[in-house]
Amino acid sequence: MAATWAMASALILVAAAVNVVAGTNELGVNWGTMTSHPIHPKIVVQLLKDNGFKKVKLFDSDPWMVGFLAGTGIKVMLGIPNDQLGFLSEDYENAKDWVQENCTAHLGNGGVNIKYIAVGNEPFLTSYKGRFTKTVFPAMKNIQQALNEAGVGKKIKAVMPHNADVYESKSDKPSDGVFRSDIRDLMHQIVRYLNDNNSPFVVNIYPFLSLYLNSKFPSDFAFFDGGHAVQDKNVQYNNVFEANFDTLVYALKNAGTPDLPILVGEIGWPTDGHKDANKANAKKFYDGLFRVLASDKGTPVRPGEIQVYLFGLFDEDTKSIEPGNFERHWGIFDFDGKPKIEMDMSGNGAHKELVAAKGVKYLPKQWCVLASYATDQDLINDQLGWACSKSDCTALQDGASCSSLEPKGKASYAFNSYYQVNDQAEDACDFKGLGTVVKRNPSTKSCKFNTQIEVDAATRLSFVYGVIASFISLVTLFNLL
Ligand SMILES: *[C@@H]1O[C@H](CO)[C@@H](O)[C@H](O)[C@H]1NC(C)=O
Repeated sequence: MAATWAMASALILVAAAVNVVAGTNELGVNWGTMTSHPIHPKIVVQLLKDNGFKKVKLFDSDPWMVGFLAGTGIKVMLGIPNDQLGFLSEDYENAKDWVQENCTAHLGNGGVNIKYIAVGNEPFLTSYKGRFTKTVFPAMKNIQQALNEAGVGKKIKAVMPHNADVYESKSDKPSDGVFRSDIRDLMHQIVRYLNDNNSPFVVNIYPFLSLYLNSKFPSDFAFFDGGHAVQDKNVQYNNVFEANFDTLVYALKNAGTPDLPILVGEIGWPTDGHKDANKANAKKFYDGLFRVLASDKGTPVRPGEIQVYLFGLFDEDTKSIEPGNFERHWGIFDFDGKPKIEMDMSGNGAHKELVAAKGVKYLPKQWCVLASYATDQDLINDQLGWACSKSDCTALQDGASCSSLEPKGKASYAFNSYYQVNDQAEDACDFKGLGTVVKRNPSTKSCKFNTQIEVDAATRLSFVYGVIASFISLVTLFNLL
């Protein structure tokens, strides 16, 4: 009896220990800012802390924004946009200035815990047609050299986030994984450099895109609940995430760097803008992902902890929808910092829910809709199209959350979208006399009519400055061409 009890408590102890170990897998998240109404960075940093994020990845390095991460201990990956790669590759002094102004200036006691500098973002996407192929590697080497020279090169590493399309497998079996043939030599040089420098390989893996881009893709393979399987020698893969990850592991073996650590720089599931992009699927995906992460099992050929940065924090209403209408709906939080779905990020049944952003202020509870007297259908369509060309109407598209609205409801949605993005300005609800402001929320069960949030002057200024700064760097780029 006693022995059984001792064994049972030993088992409990083991279980507890496993939980503790699982808890050390530090979850990261991407904080993008392609939005008309950015939340104040102070609120965002509190949100990161409240939800237990230990790592954050940025796409830029706006010093004002980065400053709010000081003293939090949160590990930070700064980003260098692709349009700055030319500048940083052509002259080492530029990289030195960059590191001085955007990195080392934040360090020191109580400063920002910068761990990585992401040089470029998915620079070898085939849609870029090789535009960054010549500059990104020299830029990365310059940044690392500048970090080394500043005495922080051991602690802060230059990395290069890649899209999973930099590797492939002709047979679809992970064990045939190799780097893409048009950039293979370059990728081999890059991974050997990373290996020598003790830096990780950063890759973005999107099972949603596998499903979205290929109508024949078996839908259950995008999730983690079994079903479709791929047999590779004596290993069976039940989800595309692990199959994709291991394809990379084999590509790294093939390049002579079998042990190069891998960070998943982006992973997530969008919640609107397409029939497969909805909250139910997102929940299914994340539940499975967190289960896999908590198990600490790793993948068949790379056992152990998997490090990921979720994509992303918020919905971003000014992102390009060239990849698809879902592109503005990747947030685990809505544009205003409210959680979209229940999530147990611990993955071990702790039933933790996401904590909403605190202190977000909204514009008044009022909406712009199509007036009931409006009848001229051509004019309505014309105004709807105009409103959508200047605001976000991705929720109206086929299969999206507002696609089942009546035509009048669709016009109202578009009008409101434009009205809110323009901070409810009086003249933003005109639409040639077709618009009217209402105080009753026109939302339906599935389709949410938003009221926008207030943006304070400092956030607005930094944001506008950011836009101007990227505009200037674009001008510089064009001058160089
Ligand atoms: C620092 O980063 C910002 C934002 O990306 C950029 O505009 C600026 O040029 C960088 N500073 C230097 C000295 O390169």
